[in-house]
Amino acid sequence: MNVNYTNLNYSKKPKVFNRPERFIEGWYWVIPSKKLGVGEIKPVTILGRELVIYRGEDQQVVILDAYCPHFGAHLGEGTVEGNELRCFFHHWKFDAAGFCVEIPCLDEPVKVKTKSWPTGEKYGLVWVWTGETPQQPLPFIPELELDECVSAFGKRLIMNCHPNIFMINAIDTQHFNTVHNLLSEFNFEKQELNENAITFTNTTDESPDSFLIKLIRPFYKKSVNFSLCYWYGMTGFITIGIGILQFNIMFASRIIEAGKAEVMTVFIAKKRQSIVGKLYNILVLWLSQFVIEYFINNDAKILRSIQFKLKSPIDFDQSIIEFVNHLENQKALKWETWYIDRIRDGEMGEIEKRPKREKWNDELVND
Ligand code: FES
Ligand SMILES: [Fe+2]
Repeated sequence: MNVNYTNLNYSKKPKVFNRPERFIEGWYWVIPSKKLGVGEIKPVTILGRELVIYRGEDQQVVILDAYCPHFGAHLGEGTVEGNELRCFFHHWKFDAAGFCVEIPCLDEPVKVKTKSWPTGEKYGLVWVWTGETPQQPLPFIPELELDECVSAFGKRLIMNCHPNIFMINAIDTQHFNTVHNLLSEFNFEKQELNENAITFTNTTDESPDSFLIKLIRPFYKKSVNFSLCYWYGMTGFITIGIGILQFNIMFASRIIEAGKAEVMTVFIAKKRQSIVGKLYNILVLWLSQFVIEYFINNDAKILRSIQFKLKSPIDFDQSIIEFVNHLENQKALKWETWYIDRIRDGEMGEIEKRPKREKWNDELVND
């Protein structure tokens, strides 16, 4: 194979990839849906920004900035009333869009609002969109885009590396052989699903000698499919196999302090109605756990101490470079503020506040 990497068109100083102070505007996981019952409110910190999350009577999840726009009390101390939230301090009440709808000592509330963020629920998790209006649907597995699914949680991992580095492990073709004894030859074909999602599909036949392939081979007529789909460089879906015996694993990650990754592992299967189908799904979800343990245990050694720098890429690193380039073209936000980070060549970190949605509350909004 040609090892002349000058053809790989790779920026040696990425501005978004593996940068702890930036992330791409998109959907990020918040908490498991089951952990938020009707009428419950919780404080959460997502990508450095302090928020509160509650579920109203209508079952809808609401996410607001954490601090009350009156005196700055933490809204997490407040209470949910119907679909609205009442601050504990002076009892001002806010609706799901963040508007103040009641001030007990006034006949009419003043025109003030707090920031409300778009939310959604999928694969057993609550998600937040880190911008004004969602530009994409919630992250999905392309193979199961239109299917109703069931899911089961695996481990919540804290990795000593940036989420992007954790994600590229699954397209690092060389290590499949050296670390996992999985496939002797590997060739990914990339496809951009949209501006924020990229897929990699293996196009080579599997190695008959690999431990994992030996285990699952008897179940398949054709070669075993292996594909990945990444959203915003931080949520990754791995799909192994096709048809009835298909494993789908989601790694939903986000950056926490010091650029580390917090990763939620979720196993996903197409929903089946019959008793046999349901039992079968339990087996598939359980087996998925086994498959992923096999990978993670071997990778842990590397990921806890790596200081990633793609100094000498070769052609075998092509997919990783495609991943980096895909991220570099997306809209970057600043960790903690979620302000839009305008990055130009040779001029880093110029930050712009988001445009306000409503003119009349420009001076009163706490943003
Ligand atoms: S601080 Fe919330 S109502 Fe006063
Ligand atoms: Fe790995």
